[in-house]
Amino acid sequence: MQLLTEMALPFLDVDAPEFHKDPFRFADEARKEHPWLARFSHGYVIHGYQAARDLAVRDEDLQLSFSQVVDFHQGRDTPWGEFMIDMLMTSPAAKHKRLRDSVAAGFTPRRANQIRPMVREVVGDLLDRWAPRGAFDFADFAANYPVAVMCGLLGISAASVAGLRQSLDDHMSSLTFKPDIWPKIEAAYREMDGFVRSVIAEREKSGKTEDGSELDAFINAKNAGQMDETELRFMLLTFVVAGYDTSKNMLAMIVHTLLDHPEMWDHCADDIGYCGKVVEEALRYAAIATLYREVVRDFDYDGIRFPKGITLTFAFPLTGRDPVAFPDPHRFDPERSSVNRHSAFGRGSHICIGQYIARALLEEGLHLIARRLRQPRLAGEPVWKPFLGAWGFEKLPIAFDPAPVRSAVGTATSA
Ligand code: HEM
Repeated sequence: MQLLTEMALPFLDVDAPEFHKDPFRFADEARKEHPWLARFSHGYVIHGYQAARDLAVRDEDLQLSFSQVVDFHQGRDTPWGEFMIDMLMTSPAAKHKRLRDSVAAGFTPRRANQIRPMVREVVGDLLDRWAPRGAFDFADFAANYPVAVMCGLLGISAASVAGLRQSLDDHMSSLTFKPDIWPKIEAAYREMDGFVRSVIAEREKSGKTEDGSELDAFINAKNAGQMDETELRFMLLTFVVAGYDTSKNMLAMIVHTLLDHPEMWDHCADDIGYCGKVVEEALRYAAIATLYREVVRDFDYDGIRFPKGITLTFAFPLTGRDPVAFPDPHRFDPERSSVNRHSAFGRGSHICIGQYIARALLEEGLHLIARRLRQPRLAGEPVWKPFLGAWGFEKLPIAFDPAPVRSAVGTATSA
């Protein structure tokens, strides 16, 4: 048995700009030295498909934790620190289960299908405003989309969250271990917390909590004694945060990938069923989320002893390119037989509760976007976000030929 901390492992410089642009090249090199494990500046990275799947379900040995992130920014005993350490994701197992069970009914595949017309409406409205420009930063466009869908889910007006986008971005940047950004994080949390408090207060004041929105379901769970006031606030905040950067980055990642595959773009415009295949393959080919886990007791895996106290990062963008799991992994092929085997939504007890909503959002969005933005092409140098946390684009400048307005092309059929 080898002790992890004494092993000679390859080093992945995940903070380097070249890594953000093409992490797969570096992972291929690292695999020559070890098939699934590497070091990085703040711990260890698991990049092998099978190891990530096996380890991500070991809840008794590994705890989802942002403690290291909180300590890095010296945010303990601050409102932001309390949220990061005591929200749905980071709660102890029994509390996590109670909270997750209390809202799970709002995130089923059926519920996701019910919201598809709302999603189409949202993306159609956005395209009506953006498509006539003929060129824009797709990352900027994509950032509007999940916020608007989230507002639709919560039953609140999109105008009420105009200032929230920047705060969500600043909060997410805390996961990248960037130094000296504490003032930004603190200000972002103040804004997000204020938003959540006012949304809950307004809905409770109106006394109207039975119209089926996710917000109503959360408030009803509180009224039924399944969560307290703080848990309700943290819950709402977790959903807004978890659904925002992930969805927008993934949508931009899909569009960027398809710029090299114009025939697939046209196919997506014609057939929403095909969009489903493209989305699944993109979730393997260029997933965006990395997970953090703290080892809470010593355990052994594949001849290695993992000691208590270290941090493991699961790099799901890299596991999708593991050649052992996916033959010819750098080829984007929506028809590949292993298309659904990716781990982009995580594994085990914390697997993404919003995954069906995310799929509805990505499939409907891609279909309508492909119909309205014809012959898309790169119109400038893309700017990549840091790899850790939620990877993606800071900027993705594209140009395209605008198609006629929505009424002329019709609306999508349901998947
Ligand atoms: C393409 C879009 C998305 C991706 C790639 C994604 C990915 C993930 C991943 C990998 C996890 C597991 C985290 C962990 O185990 O540490 C997760 C959890 C979570 N996601 Fe998503 N997500 C997406 C969209 C959404 C949306 C739209 C929502 C809300 C409507 C959402 C809400 C959540 C929540 C609340 C959790 C925590 C679940 C728990 O701890 O039990 N996600 N997501």
